[in-house]
Amino acid sequence: MEAAHYAGAPLDLTPKEDAEHVAQQTDGMVLPSGSVRVTSPGQVSQMPGFAEGEWWVQDAAAALPVRILDPKQGETVLDLCAAPGGKTLQIAASGADVTALDMSEERMRRVRENLERTDLSATCITMKAQDYDEGLFDAILLDAPCSATGTLRRHPDLPFAKDGSDIGEMISLQAEMLDHALRLLRPGGRLMYCTCSLLPDEGECQVEEALARHDGLSVDRDALKIEGVDPRWVTEEGGLRLRPDYWPERGGMDGFYMALLRR
Ligand SMILES: C[S@@+](CC[C@H](N)C(=O)[O-])C[C@H]1O[C@@H](n2cnc3c(N)ncnc32)[C@H](O)[C@@H]1O
Repeated sequence: MEAAHYAGAPLDLTPKEDAEHVAQQTDGMVLPSGSVRVTSPGQVSQMPGFAEGEWWVQDAAAALPVRILDPKQGETVLDLCAAPGGKTLQIAASGADVTALDMSEERMRRVRENLERTDLSATCITMKAQDYDEGLFDAILLDAPCSATGTLRRHPDLPFAKDGSDIGEMISLQAEMLDHALRLLRPGGRLMYCTCSLLPDEGECQVEEALARHDGLSVDRDALKIEGVDPRWVTEEGGLRLRPDYWPERGGMDGFYMALLRR
């Protein structure tokens, strides 16, 4: 993982519609999971298809939670920590009815800009996730705030900018948000919990503990059987552990954890 962090990160795009077309335009390659990896990117806003809103920048690992959640046309989906909006755009592109919420007004502005550029729509709300109480949704995405240790290859300054003293607080907040999100989920609904963290305390342990706290909650392992996902990445409790040293021959991926919960 250390070697992968030193190698840096390629530029990945999530296509709004046609991955092959985006790959051709940007001289990139379509990854097995459907993202497009650009080997020699220029200035992002000058790249073909940016102004037309045909794609947005999002690491291949970060694009997987929504692919696994698999939102459908007409479903109501709540995106609880939405900004800057990579996953909101994916959900909106599926035709689902998205409510995108984030506590940061400044970051919500970026969600609106991204929606406008890509000609997609979502209901945008600036509010703390714990204060939102307008359930019930068919599906919920909780991309919780975390240590962001999965993005170290993009942000080598992270270990210098942060000393980790806030991680304990973050872990408590993740559990609180997960419990709150479950209250907003309709019976039979599904909740994607994910973090861009390498720490099991922010991923595997959160899911294990949520399963112990909530009767009738289960993990959907079958949902992980999608193109591009190696079955060896599936964890004991039924989540998916992604690491920067996976896909070494393709240029790696961000560290991420995700699990699809059903009740
Ligand atoms: C990991 S980022 C989300 C990335 C986003 N899902 C995407 O795909 O572009 C976490 C977000 O959670 C927001 N956040 C942190 N604490 C929050 C809270 N209590 N309620 C709502 N949003 C919160 C932050 O402002 C930040 O935008």
